[in-house]
Amino acid sequence: MTDALLVESRTDEAAAWWRQAAVYQIYPRSFADANGDGIGDIPGILSRVEYLADLGIDAVWLSPFYPSALADGGYDVDDYRNVDPRLGTLEDFDAMTEALHARGIRVIVDIVPNHTSNRHEWFQEALAAGRGSAARDRYIFREGTGPDGAEPPTDWVSVFGGSAWERVEDGQWYFHNFAVEQPDLNWANPEVREDFLTTLRFWSDRGVDGFRIDVAHMLTKDLSEPLPSRAELALLPQDGSHPLIDRDDVHEIYAEWRRVFDEYEPPRTAVAEAWVSTPERRARYASAEGLGQAFNFDLLVADFDAAQFRRIIADNLAQATLSGSSTTWVLSNHDVTRHATRYGLPPLDGRAVKQGTEWVAAGGPEEQLDRDGGRRRAHAATLLLLGLPGSAYLYQGEELGLHEVAEITPEQRQDPAFFRGGEFDGLGRDGCRVPLPWTADGPSFGFGADGAHLPQPAWFAAHAVDAEAADPASSLSLYREALRLRHELQTGESLEWLETGRVDVLRFARPNGWQVVTAFGTEPFELGSDAERVVLSSLPLVGGTLPGEATAWIAPGV
Ligand code: GLC
Ligand code: CA
Repeated sequence: MTDALLVESRTDEAAAWWRQAAVYQIYPRSFADANGDGIGDIPGILSRVEYLADLGIDAVWLSPFYPSALADGGYDVDDYRNVDPRLGTLEDFDAMTEALHARGIRVIVDIVPNHTSNRHEWFQEALAAGRGSAARDRYIFREGTGPDGAEPPTDWVSVFGGSAWERVEDGQWYFHNFAVEQPDLNWANPEVREDFLTTLRFWSDRGVDGFRIDVAHMLTKDLSEPLPSRAELALLPQDGSHPLIDRDDVHEIYAEWRRVFDEYEPPRTAVAEAWVSTPERRARYASAEGLGQAFNFDLLVADFDAAQFRRIIADNLAQATLSGSSTTWVLSNHDVTRHATRYGLPPLDGRAVKQGTEWVAAGGPEEQLDRDGGRRRAHAATLLLLGLPGSAYLYQGEELGLHEVAEITPEQRQDPAFFRGGEFDGLGRDGCRVPLPWTADGPSFGFGADGAHLPQPAWFAAHAVDAEAADPASSLSLYREALRLRHELQTGESLEWLETGRVDVLRFARPNGWQVVTAFGTEPFELGSDAERVVLSSLPLVGGTLPGEATAWIAPGV
């Protein structure tokens, strides 16, 4: 190879880091609290860089840490180019990024472009400037209907429940897809477009490696009159022409963003949060001319079931081949019931409810939850997921085998979804956002010196980092070993299914010879002489046999 070619292939390699990365999601306010005010902060993350390095992840994704009134856990952003003073300063952010980079960990930040907070200077200007002003045109203001315009422009309902319109003092109404405190931006406005390019450059210049794009499928809207009713809206196809969701014209924005990402070396990456109607439509967000990658949330609504897993894996690998992207795998994040809990509840068997929703809504009755079984199945699913081609997104606390926390009183709850009902019905999302336990003893289990902003249950003690680090059979030890070995296993981006003779057992081989076997049912699976090459399993083998509800990784033969 000539020098020029060598440099080029190295650059390609550096540019492709995200394709099979293990990315660890940090919910900053609940990760580690360095100054003891009960809220996790950036210096707290800095103090845990060793922990992240030992875990063996390739990147962290930070949920919003920007100034915010926390009407929606920080997804209501007051200022996109700053750090919430309660969480630290820009200098703290730089120090954290430098320390993470020094340990080979890349940094992804969350961009929330669909809406600002109502405290953002633009929205304050819009309120002050009045009807027909340029400041109002950055948002979506309309006159109401009925006598004196006292009724909202439409009967549309927001994702968090209640009307999607809010009236302001002079009588106009503004549109908010999410909380009242989250007015939607008008993406037809050039100033809005330009400002987000400035934000992308601001963080890229600070060394950020990539971006997670919040509700990437909702930015552009067609609100030309007459507006459809809520019932009519629900019947419109989501094929690119829908007034609010997954419109074809949203990709013009991401093409512009891609040009900014490509100004950097290596190019900055992005992953879309896009809840769209088909995998084909999701692939458009993942195109190399757009954001490059999109979350695959299919496993969030699936049971722990061989047939469902196989279909989802096959579909998504096929889509990745078509889009030229790599697929992504997610079992938990800050918006859903933790997967250990989902798998400890009765299966959905095709019902269209999100797993865990009913249990959480009912206040988490203990007798319905099989804690050990849920964790066992979660370990099996995670080990399978980490063996798949593509990148894996892990959510803080899952490496400790944490269950959803149901023991939070209404007074202690923070999620707007809890207070307004809506799509995240039941008790909302606080149960997966409880501050992490670092030590089995001490105030707030080592999270900080003075309490935690959401209550931690007594059972956290058994899952504290110090307790689990000392136990080779713990969740943490399993994740560490899997993430270490994963660097050997993840080479080519494909798999070949192997025959198992059982409908409840999936087995596949990677191009480099590594194999992954999962027994979804309770029946053990005989591995024969391959048992000798098992380097990791979510439950210990019994003789040459993989127990039921377990996954094993088999190293290539010599
Ligand atoms: C995304 C976030 C969620 C937030 C919503 C509104 O779905 O993941 O936490 O509430 O967007 O920004
Ligand atoms: Ca703090």
